[in-house]
Amino acid sequence: MERVKTGIADLDEMLNGGIPQGCITTIIGGFGTGKSTLALKFVHSGLVKGEKGLYISIEQKEEDLIKSSALFGWDFKPYINNGTFKIIRLSPTFLKTTIAKIESELPELIKTFAPKRLVVDPITLYEMIFDNEGERREQLFKLIEMIKDSGTTSLIVSESSKESPYMSRFGLIEYIADGVITLRYLRGTEMKSVARVIEISKMRMTEHSDAIKPYEITKDGIVVHIGAQIFGEF
Ligand SMILES: Nc1ncnc2c1ncn2[C@@H]1O[C@H](COP(=O)(O)OP(=O)(O)OP(=O)(O)O)[C@@H](O)[C@H]1O
Ligand SMILES: [Mg+2]
Repeated sequence: MERVKTGIADLDEMLNGGIPQGCITTIIGGFGTGKSTLALKFVHSGLVKGEKGLYISIEQKEEDLIKSSALFGWDFKPYINNGTFKIIRLSPTFLKTTIAKIESELPELIKTFAPKRLVVDPITLYEMIFDNEGERREQLFKLIEMIKDSGTTSLIVSESSKESPYMSRFGLIEYIADGVITLRYLRGTEMKSVARVIEISKMRMTEHSDAIKPYEITKDGIVVHIGAQIFGEF
């Protein structure tokens, strides 16, 4: 089976070599847990190998994503210039335009551009557009099915719900996706600072680590510490 490396060494090891090609993986996490950082690294590490990437940003501006990536040393500009990387920004404030773009232009773009790696960041803002639960479910299923059919390997960023750090806000994507990677904070009573931990909650078609491992966001992006242990009750 072909695997797509996330570009984060210890996470790839937890995944037994990477995400199975063509899989849709959701990254669930609260604000600031590093979801976008992980997704940007995933796309960038493909670009350096000559793999085309498409980043669908819902709300966050292209310039901001490019700027924050540059701070980690990931330069997207050459890939925008040579046509192997595209960022599409959709605004949740222009509901009708966003829905129309996702329904009509996106399938065409994915077909013609044929990215090897795709990110939607975050799907939550798209899900929020629909008040009606049935409609939300239907639109999400349609989008995921279209991405699945394209054969691209994708990361779908989801904000976690208020009730549980393991669940997405609307509790749908984790059931449809092939994989779920959870990023969360640990705040133990004895702890002097917050710790961040990562786990692979689900990954179809491959064996993977079940361990909960600490990670940091450093000047080089996300660094997972596979050799470290988490102790105690949280
Ligand atoms: N250059 C940097 N060096 C070190 N840590 C950084 C750097 N830039 C950001 N961070 C850390 O990463 C966090 C934000 O990461 P990121 O934007 O990927 O999170 P996110 O989960 O996408 O958040 P949101 O839900 O708000 O979109 C910051 O709160 C900070 O702790
Ligand atoms: Mg983000």
